[in-house]
Amino acid sequence: MAEQQIHIDPYERTWITIITVMLGVFFATLIAGMAIFGVANTEEGGFINPSAIDNTVFASPGIRHMGGNQYEAVILAYMWAFEPAELRVPAGSEVTFVVTSRDISHGFMIEHHNANMELLPGHISRIQARFNEPGEYRIICNQYCGRGHQIMHAVIVVEEAETSTVALTEE
Ligand code: CUA
Repeated sequence: MAEQQIHIDPYERTWITIITVMLGVFFATLIAGMAIFGVANTEEGGFINPSAIDNTVFASPGIRHMGGNQYEAVILAYMWAFEPAELRVPAGSEVTFVVTSRDISHGFMIEHHNANMELLPGHISRIQARFNEPGEYRIICNQYCGRGHQIMHAVIVVEEAETSTVALTEE
């Protein structure tokens, strides 16, 4: 009988060990990113026919109050704007963004928030973000999409929660 055992050169063995350890480190980094920094993946929200947008929820984009601090923002992206161009929510809101592109691929990134996704025509992308601090946060297209790319943005206005009560107690 011939030798059945696989021969591994010591030099090769060293490299296999190094690669295995590095894969372990990369995997641990991924897990740490999710656990410690809350890195979230874009959720797949389904498919639509981009040429029949008018028959979908994207025909009338906007923000809806879902009860409590929950909001749903339906946003349509195209060259070179987001619709609606402005959204308003009270501080403490948790917003689920439901977004698609009407034409080509665009980016969707919210300033100072953990939300960054790619928009593709025919795909619905969903992501959640929480707005604790009042202020204005831009939604930016961070994927080059042609001549008007640099002007493609919208704004989320996070208002002081219960402005009227605050105003009354302050005066
Ligand atoms: Cu849309 Cu860049």
